Amino acid sequence: MKLQGKVALITGAANGIGLATAERFLQEGAAVMLADIDGGALDGAVAALNSDRAASQVVDVTDEAQVAATVKATVDRFGRLDVFVANAGIEGRIGEIIDSSVANFDRVMAVNVRGAWLGLKYAIPAIRDAGGGSILLTSSGAGVKGSPNLAPYNASKHAVIGLMRCAALECAKYNIRVNTVNPGPIETRMMRAIEDGFVPGGGEQFKQQLSAVTPMGRYGLPEEIAAMMVFLASDDASYCTGSVYMVDGGNAT
Ligand code: NAI
Repeated sequence: MKLQGKVALITGAANGIGLATAERFLQEGAAVMLADIDGGALDGAVAALNSDRAASQVVDVTDEAQVAATVKATVDRFGRLDVFVANAGIEGRIGEIIDSSVANFDRVMAVNVRGAWLGLKYAIPAIRDAGGGSILLTSSGAGVKGSPNLAPYNASKHAVIGLMRCAALECAKYNIRVNTVNPGPIETRMMRAIEDGFVPGGGEQFKQQLSAVTPMGRYGLPEEIAAMMVFLASDDASYCTGSVYMVDGGNAT
């Protein structure tokens, strides 16, 4: 039980990596507020978790008032906040820069960057008031190297690392550690959308190619990201801050 007694808020928690992280956090003894824009999926997720230490809040992470209300709802429900996971994200449209729109660029930046920044803005004071804790931002393999046809997403995940580095420097004095977790390709809806975006109707072929150039020869599972989240959220990571944690089967090497 590595997170016994801790209270965590996870965004993008209705699906994929966020949901797997919520599940592991509950197994490790934490109370978890699952937050997501998809209320229907959120209801299903919380019902399936079936724990009095799991609660949910619908939030659009791009909306300042909603983010503030979500942090407040977490503290109201569970009494404190120790761990914040800014995980909500979208891939946007797949395509070359010359073919993409301002609207797509702005939406990807709003969810992935403004959303993470707003989360920091409201979670930091709450965690500080609890005496310190851990903040995790979900960046990506796309946060440390380029990829064609994904410029807004790629740039947004680089920006998340910048936010993390600044927040880590600002938060050390509050006893708050701040790090990014950078998944490689993981078996979730997002990779299905990226596969279909690269090879319309032939996503499986794209998946095989990407798996073949990944040193470990396969995609990762959401649970394999959740395991890193647990470590960084826990007191085992008590001297870890300001760093980028790749969980990518060697993909970025
Ligand atoms: P997913 O699509 O299964 O989950 C993303 C969740 O974020 C969804 O539940 C969605 O409803 C929620 N969301 C989207 N916009 C939102 C908003 N404005 N406000 C609140 N919630 C919102 O995808 P996955 O793979 O679980 O992604 C989680 C994070 O992991 C994302 O930040 C993604 O960029 C990152 N990531 C995923 C990788 C992958 O291969 N699946 C690889 C590297 C990073």
